[in-house]
Amino acid sequence: MKTIYRSFGLQGMITVPGDKSISHRAVMFGALADGVTTIHGFLKGADCLSTIDCFRKMGIQIEEKEDTIYVHGKGLHGLTAPTETLDVGNSGTTTRLISGILAGQDFTTTLSGDASLNSRPMKRIITPLSMMNADIKSEKGNGCAPLVIHGKPLTAIHYQSPVASAQVKSCVLLAGLYANGKTSVTEPSLSRDHTERMLRSFGADISSKGCTSTIAPPESLQGQHIEVPGDISSAAFFIAAALITPNSEVYIQNVGINPTRSGILKVCEDMGADITRKNVREEGGEPVADLMVRSSDLHGTVIEGSIIPTLIDELPVIALMACCAEGKTIIRDAHELHVKESDRIEIVSRNLSAMGADIIPTEDGFLINSRCDEHDIPILHGASIACAMDHRIAMTFAVAGMNADGETIITDSDCVDVSYPGFFSQLESISL
Ligand code: S3P
Repeated sequence: MKTIYRSFGLQGMITVPGDKSISHRAVMFGALADGVTTIHGFLKGADCLSTIDCFRKMGIQIEEKEDTIYVHGKGLHGLTAPTETLDVGNSGTTTRLISGILAGQDFTTTLSGDASLNSRPMKRIITPLSMMNADIKSEKGNGCAPLVIHGKPLTAIHYQSPVASAQVKSCVLLAGLYANGKTSVTEPSLSRDHTERMLRSFGADISSKGCTSTIAPPESLQGQHIEVPGDISSAAFFIAAALITPNSEVYIQNVGINPTRSGILKVCEDMGADITRKNVREEGGEPVADLMVRSSDLHGTVIEGSIIPTLIDELPVIALMACCAEGKTIIRDAHELHVKESDRIEIVSRNLSAMGADIIPTEDGFLINSRCDEHDIPILHGASIACAMDHRIAMTFAVAGMNADGETIITDSDCVDVSYPGFFSQLESISL
């Protein structure tokens, strides 16, 4: 449990933990490569530790020395059968990406996670993998994990995905490593492209055109050094906090700004935010920048269409910003929020309403109106927030609590460890 009080400004310079999506992929691709992959800036959050644990159980030696993770790859065909169920914890990325890899092995595995993970939809990967001739089943027949995968040779397909999901796309492309020809995926709009960028750096023949990515099964992958940039999805909480808390100036170093991830920056700019990108550079095939963020008078906006996949994980905290912005904000085309670590449309609306915000949940997003006092100060009041063990909800409401009267109590606050160990102390360290 954590109690949050109003902040009188955020001031300081911070670095946020490594990108979760990139950290998962670095371990997975390193395990399948020849030679050693070294990872600097790896996110030691519970989700990425689940990925490490799964690969250790399949015979991959993974060590940590000082700030670097060493993955001793055994090649595309070097994994060995685990002797127990692979525990994927709370991690959808581990589950969906690893399933693509496991479908092409010559052994059987079972994947299972916590209650939240085991209720998330897996049919979205069972369908394309089955089209590739994979043998993958939901143990309970409900389209969810536990998943039982009997590895076998796979058939190349072209998959027209009904959802813009990097987890689905990556699952199919990873199965494509083991298929009998070129495998491609077309999605309705472009989702994060870390798999494509990183597999290319490991030597895979992978190309992208518009919303289609194509992979040819490689002879081998080569171990790499991966510099993991700071996670923009974690930086998002500090960006939002600095923008909506008066008297704030926060400098966030080393943030990944891959265009398939940085929709939040575009939305903030549309809302009138004062954010300056500094030292824009490229590190290990990923664009990176430092961000200077200052308190701003935000105004409402419309968020819809192809930008949604580029900010999907940031929508809870964007909804909070919209409650503190002048006028009306409409967020639509975000059905996917229903099937994240919690039903984020329901839980964000319920908790923001409990704090006095004017927010209406819709089938695919939110309608939000500002509610300010006569001095234009947003009116939020403290409340008790249950976050359904969803890390991004806990962090969103910590930021909300810093802009509310009275006490905000986050009941299941430990779940921030999934993606951001040390979040609360870092937030407190720069709060006045
Ligand atoms: C992720 C993709 C997104 C995102 C998740 C991480 C990834 O999920 O919400 O936190 O690393 O590929 P979807 O692909 O299901 O949208």
